[in-house]
Amino acid sequence: MKKVYLETFGCQMNVSDSERVASQLEKDGYEITSSEDSADVVLFNTCSVREKAEHKLYSRIGEVRSGKNSNNLRQPIIGVLGCVAQLEGETLFKKSQKIDFVLGTKALGRVSSAIENIRKGSNSFFDLADREENYDWSVSKTQMFSPYIGFVPIIEGCNKFCTYCIVPFSRGREKSIAPADILKQVLRLRRQGIKEIYLIGQNVNSYRPKTETGLENFPGATPFSKLLRAVAATGLERIKFTTSFPRDFHADIVDAINENENLCNWVHLPVQSGSNSILKAMRRGHTIESYVEKIVKIKSSTRKISLTTDFIVGFPNETEQDFQATLDLIKHCEFDSSYIFKYSPRPGTPASQMEDNVSLKEKTNRFLELEKVQRFYQQKAQQSYINRIVEILVEKFSSKSKTELSGHTSCQKVVNFKGSENLVGKIIKVKITKSKLNTLHGEKY
Ligand code: SAH
Ligand code: SF4
Ligand code: F3S
Repeated sequence: MKKVYLETFGCQMNVSDSERVASQLEKDGYEITSSEDSADVVLFNTCSVREKAEHKLYSRIGEVRSGKNSNNLRQPIIGVLGCVAQLEGETLFKKSQKIDFVLGTKALGRVSSAIENIRKGSNSFFDLADREENYDWSVSKTQMFSPYIGFVPIIEGCNKFCTYCIVPFSRGREKSIAPADILKQVLRLRRQGIKEIYLIGQNVNSYRPKTETGLENFPGATPFSKLLRAVAATGLERIKFTTSFPRDFHADIVDAINENENLCNWVHLPVQSGSNSILKAMRRGHTIESYVEKIVKIKSSTRKISLTTDFIVGFPNETEQDFQATLDLIKHCEFDSSYIFKYSPRPGTPASQMEDNVSLKEKTNRFLELEKVQRFYQQKAQQSYINRIVEILVEKFSSKSKTELSGHTSCQKVVNFKGSENLVGKIIKVKITKSKLNTLHGEKY
């Protein structure tokens, strides 16, 4: 009864939480297995940001119970963790009778005792309580999502309450981690030989710690830009950060990137819509004019910074004119890449009280149209890398080939090239020879 299979949906916060859950279980004597068929315990760390993400949980539970991938009918313990767990709590037992326990986003530190309780014969139960003060943040090297990349949460939760979004309800209020604790963790990862870290949070640039101890020697217009400079000073080779919130995006972040080569030249700044009336209805707290001002600062930086974003199409009352404004924004900003989502009403959010009055057909049309325009500018951005020499962190063999290696640039481009296994985990130079929509191809330089 010691093998645990853990599957993660959703954002990097969930990936980071899963690293901690797996580390905790390993410490408590469990074996983390990559095979759900041989597992005694199956855990799902869930996402509820869109309806589709939530539905995935129910279909996966069905598959595990019916033993889709094995011939025997199996009865592993099933635990649901994370955002769906936090939001649904006890009602999950009504939605699926196959679930043994439910642990909310703050209750993950109690995962081992939850499994033990069920093993000892407890009835199904849920736990949504806050975590203990002495919650163990450490991640064991064997349970990292990647042996070369580390995730460092700097701010948890969200206070923004954009009208469509469930995250403030599933993750609670914003809480910034003390700078000294972040720096300690970064140094620990550096000692472990980690080459790249992501400072993560729903809105990293809203970082407001109770104390700035540890940041005294670093200049900066905001606590976040001070933190960026302090993390850069640890000497870790690559530092990325995501996600940034447009309203709190201060020009000094660009200055920090310009001053420090190890701060990566990539900014993810979700805009959602190009229309001021939709932005207002979404309660994003900024206008398109103020967003574009920030983009101008990013684009005029001396280091070339790549820029990515998120869009939602088909928000309630989004007119053809509003949608056209989003297309115009793409033409204006020329994003390096973007995630496009169809609006999905989330129960309990203010937008879910509004009529979801853009038909699914129209949402799909707008999705495809936006994707087409994005693709044009993305190709153009990708082509601009041809003949350039870039540095990549080699992560693994590419999914499609046994001879091609794959990695990311500092500016978050995927690069594939022919090379041998001994390069994995190293930062090397590659000359780009060919560009595709989502990948660049090159030769070791
Ligand atoms: N904190 C970040 C990211 C939040 S979730 C931000 O504010 O930008 C990631 C993305 O999911 C969002 O940027 C948004 O584009 C999308 N999203 C969130 N709620 C959604 C919903 N109800 N329907 C469709 N997409 C949604
Ligand atoms: Fe959701 Fe808005 Fe918070 Fe992002 S900033 S997590 S979209 S409420
Ligand atoms: Fe999903 Fe929760 Fe992240 S809802 S996007 S896993 S914070």
